[in-house]
Amino acid sequence: MSDEFLSLSRDKWRELPAGGETLGRTYSGDLLSLDDASLMAHWRRMNEAAVVPDVRGWFHCLYGDVFAGRRVVEVGSGFGFDGISFLARGAHWTFSDLVLDNLNLVRRVVESLGLGERASYLHVENERSFAGLKGGPYDAVWAIGSLHHAPFDIARTETLDLLQHLKAGGRWIELTYPYERWLREGALPFSEFGKRTDGERTPWAEWYDLEKVKRRLFPSRTTTILDFTTGGGNFGWVDLRVDELNPDSRQSPEVSLMGYPATALNQASLKALPGEWRLVCPPHIWWYAMSVGLEYAIQQLGSLPLPGLGYAVDLEIEVQSGSVGVVLADENPDSFVGRERILDARPSTHRVTVLTYDAAKPAQLLVRNTIHGVASQVRIRSAALRFAA
Ligand SMILES: C[S@@+](CC[C@H](N)C(=O)[O-])C[C@H]1O[C@@H](n2cnc3c(N)ncnc32)[C@H](O)[C@@H]1O
Repeated sequence: MSDEFLSLSRDKWRELPAGGETLGRTYSGDLLSLDDASLMAHWRRMNEAAVVPDVRGWFHCLYGDVFAGRRVVEVGSGFGFDGISFLARGAHWTFSDLVLDNLNLVRRVVESLGLGERASYLHVENERSFAGLKGGPYDAVWAIGSLHHAPFDIARTETLDLLQHLKAGGRWIELTYPYERWLREGALPFSEFGKRTDGERTPWAEWYDLEKVKRRLFPSRTTTILDFTTGGGNFGWVDLRVDELNPDSRQSPEVSLMGYPATALNQASLKALPGEWRLVCPPHIWWYAMSVGLEYAIQQLGSLPLPGLGYAVDLEIEVQSGSVGVVLADENPDSFVGRERILDARPSTHRVTVLTYDAAKPAQLLVRNTIHGVASQVRIRSAALRFAA
């Protein structure tokens, strides 16, 4: 199944974003047929469009000194705009790609620029190719718009192999498509969403937020260095420091909370419908409105795969009016065991994850009103408990 998918992908990614946001896409095979001078002239034109500050210039500036003298492996290097820039500033760079022509093209440009000494290449022939990665251990993994083009399970297999070659304390940096972009473009199946983001023949594009990237690395422990959207809301940027590498290929199990009893608090109105909780909060700021006990769901999750893991609840919530806070707490509602997330009313669904600090065990999931004088109205469409590293 993954071989079939990757061969479809390989057929698509012979054609790559040609720099900037205005030059469209180009086939690497067409460029390879050019003589050296024409190839370099073409590549330089694309690169100039790509490295303007608003597109890649800002991150070339941000990471140039960080990567000098370091070893970085790039997943899906395309036309090599990033790796070649960092090579020129002193990094040791491993380019990897599904498509051999893409790598051959990058190799020709790298050699023409006299940067070959610190460059190496890996052809991604299948989902386990990164197991055989050479040249490590690496200081960073760089995946700019690549891993989200494979179904989560394939990307996870590649991720777990890549982690084996990363130093503890190394960085994991990705450019993603945010959940909000996916919603805006019609919440399409991932097999269709890619057509919107990268053209007709794109077999897959999947949204990611910070917690979904971390879940792909689970159960390795990370510290978040950067997490924001850029490019007018079209891209997400996630930069993690991988503090502790915990090899374990099992996915984190999850337990849906939707069937569990929820309690209305402070005369909130709460309706449990199939697949949905509808809540109207009391119209006072900070008043609790709803509690879901977690004891049985935690039992259902089973034993911790590793000591010291925390818990997370992933939720989809429509906030129709007002503003609500969602948080994990112990038996005493005022004793939060993680950070509260505050969600304002908006036309589209919020996707949010609330977490415990480190290894705390939560007793309940709480929702409360977080706006003065408005009885906030919400629909909770899904809530699932899992372990978090
Ligand atoms: C949208 S292009 C981005 C290229 C380059 N990173 C850039 O920023 O211009 C996607 C790249 O990811 C590669 N790719 C797609 N799926 C991949 C996968 N599952 N594993 C490794 N590379 C993949 C493609 O071959 C292609 O080079």
